[in-house]
Amino acid sequence: MRVVSGIQPTGNLHLGNYLGAIRNWVKMQDEMECLYFLADLHAISMPHNPAELTANTREMAAALIACGLDINKSILFNQAQVPAHAELQWLLSGTARMGWLNRMTQFKDKSGKNREGASIALFTYPVLQAADVLLYQATHVPVGEDQKQHLELARDIAQKFNNDFGNGTDIFTLPDPIIPKATARIMSLRDGTAKMSKSDLSDMSRINLVDDADTILTKLKKAKTDAEPLPSEAAGLEGRAEATNLVGIYAAFAEESVDATLTRFGGQGFGAFKSALAELVIENFRPISERFNALKGDHEQIDAALAKGAAKARELGAPTLKATYNALGLLR
Ligand code: TYM
Repeated sequence: MRVVSGIQPTGNLHLGNYLGAIRNWVKMQDEMECLYFLADLHAISMPHNPAELTANTREMAAALIACGLDINKSILFNQAQVPAHAELQWLLSGTARMGWLNRMTQFKDKSGKNREGASIALFTYPVLQAADVLLYQATHVPVGEDQKQHLELARDIAQKFNNDFGNGTDIFTLPDPIIPKATARIMSLRDGTAKMSKSDLSDMSRINLVDDADTILTKLKKAKTDAEPLPSEAAGLEGRAEATNLVGIYAAFAEESVDATLTRFGGQGFGAFKSALAELVIENFRPISERFNALKGDHEQIDAALAKGAAKARELGAPTLKATYNALGLLR
């Protein structure tokens, strides 16, 4: 069993990343062999500033370590230091179909009305993502709901490659997504129908790991809600997207069921609930942001951690890359 997952080093790590993915990453490192990476190669699929990408890659590595990712248990690296990711992407490009990529909702969302002006990298992004996990024969991929479609594509590519070139053996393992039931999709604080995202123009829509206590309190106080009091059980949240989101965040941090949270707050307005929620988020993020602030300026330590992880990843990916070249009949 092997766990593989990645995060783009663009912008700040936010509460959606944390509850949707990173908290699971940290839990899984005690149970299985885990590889976690900064998807810096994915980050160049959108217009970007090179100096910012370097800084963000180091910051995201520091943020993951601050969240509890232990580099003595997990293998932490950035894609750019493991050329096999890009190589395998090309080798899989003969197998991935245009029609499959045309169905990817992320490409549609990110290219918007400017499809012709979108980069080729944005279109073939999911093939690189498939390479990321297939390279290591990942069995489990902990992600939020928004990455489900990309992982289904990775499975389709693996399956077709095995059929076409496997000669009776499986070159690639079909990976299973691990999506947390309760926190698969944390929504924007401004709009309960949009996911919390780094790319949302409004910083009020998300809580960042680096936000201080006052900012977290302000953002939650201003979070959109409706006029009804909180219901006493989960069924009463039906059709109330913003309330569902906030109660879900509370329950996730309190590590209890939504019903348990509502037993306490049912019948009350949002004022007291939002204060309690802010307190809980601040309490959970405080030790993380303290560790982050202590580490983020130490480039030497961060670079050493990434170099160590990359060396290990290069070693672990080598056999599958070789088998892929061989299967395709490429003479080396
Ligand atoms: P990224 O950087 O957008 O997000 C990192 C992880 O956070 C999860 N996530 C959320 N979960 C719940 N609610 C939200 N609002 C929310 N926003 C983000 C994402 O699902 C993800 O698990 N393409 C990927 C990075 C990637 C990758 C991979 C992931 C590249 N290669 C291989 C897994 C395997 C991405 O852009 O994630």
